[in-house]
Amino acid sequence: MQIVTELATLSAIVQGWQRDGEDVALVPTMGALHRGHLTLVAEAKHRARRVVVSIFVNPTQFGPNEDLAAYPRQEEEDAAKLRAAGVDLLWLPKVETMYPAGFATSISVSGVTADFCGAARPGHFDGVATVVAKLFNQVRPDRALFGEKDYQQLAVIRRMATDLNLPVEVIGVPTVREADGLALSSRNAYLAADERANAVALSRSLQTAKAAIEAGEPVTDVLARAISGLVQSGFASVDYFALADAVSLERLDRLDRPGRLLAAARIGRARLIDNIAVDPKA
Ligand code: PAJ
Repeated sequence: MQIVTELATLSAIVQGWQRDGEDVALVPTMGALHRGHLTLVAEAKHRARRVVVSIFVNPTQFGPNEDLAAYPRQEEEDAAKLRAAGVDLLWLPKVETMYPAGFATSISVSGVTADFCGAARPGHFDGVATVVAKLFNQVRPDRALFGEKDYQQLAVIRRMATDLNLPVEVIGVPTVREADGLALSSRNAYLAADERANAVALSRSLQTAKAAIEAGEPVTDVLARAISGLVQSGFASVDYFALADAVSLERLDRLDRPGRLLAAARIGRARLIDNIAVDPKA
């Protein structure tokens, strides 16, 4: 695995592959890699001859009171995991490559960002869209893989790629979970043991709500019950627990098309998110 920190080197290597007819898949990450990230890498290896993983803890997608400084950084462990997974190239851009002096350009996707994490974290998705567009331009991959774990992020990137005719196929990969159902996340490391035990309520409540909505129970009743259940299970607060259109992410109060239950809730120092598909009967 080559570890590259200079853009000119990255371009020379990727262009060499593409000249030889080898296609390239990119997996963008912020490091602190776990089995969720490595599942994206494994899927990338199935989808392309060459796999590039990027690690960049992107400051512009963190709010002023968020966990940028505390975000786990473990480059050597990450590199070892990626080497073992058969990654061809690890792209570690410098901050000055991502944000050169005088940086003044931002990509802002409206619509799908209006609600949920977009509402709770102002500016977050501008930071994500801008850095992902830059990574696409730097690496020039044929395909890029993103986790459904961050469902709204995936919707933002799909929207951006379509709207800007980015020549990259965006692929979503199902959420990887712990045995009890908790979605893997770098932020699970913030949980104390009792919080970790209680955190399972998030994925359980999504499953329960999915079953109830698919069985025809009124959506607003189901959502209200899920929110109070989470608080009873030890969550300090619920940012949102909602049913949305699976593509546009507009809120739904009846399941009349493919939907997605989306949730974000706080426990201890962590803000956890999760989501699940909800399908109207055929
Ligand atoms: P990060 O949180 O490191 O996640 C990198 C990728 O791994 C994202 O596509 C995310 O959805 C996916 N992922 C995380 N946990 C997962 C899980 N349990 N199952 C499946 N996929 C999972 O998301 C980001 O970084 C950043 O916003 C980024 C896109 C890199 C832009 O900075």
